[in-house]
This record gives sequence, C-alpha cells and structure tokens, in this order.
Amino acid sequence: MKARVGVVTVSDRASLGVYEDRSGPEVVAFLRERWPEAEVLQRLVPDEVEAIQGAVLALLEEGCRLVLTTGGTGPAPRDVTPEALLPLLEKTLPGFGEAMRLASLRETPTAILSRQVAGTRGRSLVLSLPGSPRAIPTCLEAVWEAIPVALRLLEDPPRC
Ligand code: MTE
Repeated sequence: MKARVGVVTVSDRASLGVYEDRSGPEVVAFLRERWPEAEVLQRLVPDEVEAIQGAVLALLEEGCRLVLTTGGTGPAPRDVTPEALLPLLEKTLPGFGEAMRLASLRETPTAILSRQVAGTRGRSLVLSLPGSPRAIPTCLEAVWEAIPVALRLLEDPPRC
C-alpha cells in the first residue's frame, strides 16, 4: 500500500475563508518533492482542541504513518495545537521541536514563540509546525532525515 501522510492546517481565519491557506500547500509541496510516492491527505480546521484532535485522529485512522500540523503553536489565546496534540501522544519526541526551533532561530528571533511538539501514537508520528509558510521548509528540512528513521523504529519489529 502507498504510504499516507496527513497534513492539518490549523487556522481560524483560513478555515473561515477570510484568507487562503498558504502553509498547508507549502507542507504538501515539500512532501511532493521529498516523498513523491506518498499519498497526501489534507484537512483544514479552526483553532479548536476538539477539531484538531478530530482531524488528527481521523487521519491516523485512515492509515497515515505521519501527520503534520501547521499553525496554532504560538502563545496567543487561540493557539491550542500543543494542547490538542499532547493528550494524543503516547511518547513525546522533544528533539523534533528543539531542532525546528533551533533552525528557525537562525532566521527569526520570534521562533522562540513557537511551542512545537512531536511524538508517537501507535506506529505513527505526529508533529507540529508553525503557521508561517516561510517556517515550513526551514522546520521540515531540520528534521527530515529523522522522520524515516522514527517510522522504521515504530514498526513491529523495529527496523533500524
Ligand atoms: N519559525 C520560522 N522559521 N519562521 C517564522 O516566521 N514565526 C514565529 C514562530 N516560528 C516563525 C517561526 C512566530 S511569530 C510565532 S507566533 C510562532 O512561530 C508560532 O506560530 P503559529 O502560532 O502560527 O504556529
């Protein structure tokens, strides 16, 4: 079966159609270039814990081994992506957030504001990216090599 990857854009305004989602397509473009054989499933949800959890769980249910969210990682009152993801994660993988913030900090001091989290659920890997389209290639590039390794380690038995 084709590998499936889920992409969830978390944004009140994009989900209401106030503006166009630009970060989701940026994630999809990165995936198409780096993992052309993967089937990408996309969702767009508002900044609500239940909506985010519903989208992520549905994508995992549909067989996504990797789910990437974008947006809602900042400190504003409506930014709740980490609060939505953390209860779903069985093991957190703090190195992903650390590496992505480190790479982003080389570009902008405001990267310190992003509370990106990552971790496992079953055999799948879930990770959050900031909402800025510019942040997407920077963050994905910083962790890309570790993703197939993590996915192999999550197999039963682990392949390393
Ligand atoms: N990282 C990169 N590489 N580029 C950026 O422009 N924006 C920052 C940060 N990380 C940014 C970045 C800002 S201003 C915020 S508030 C946080 O990501 C969180 O963004 P989010 O709430 O859209 O997820």
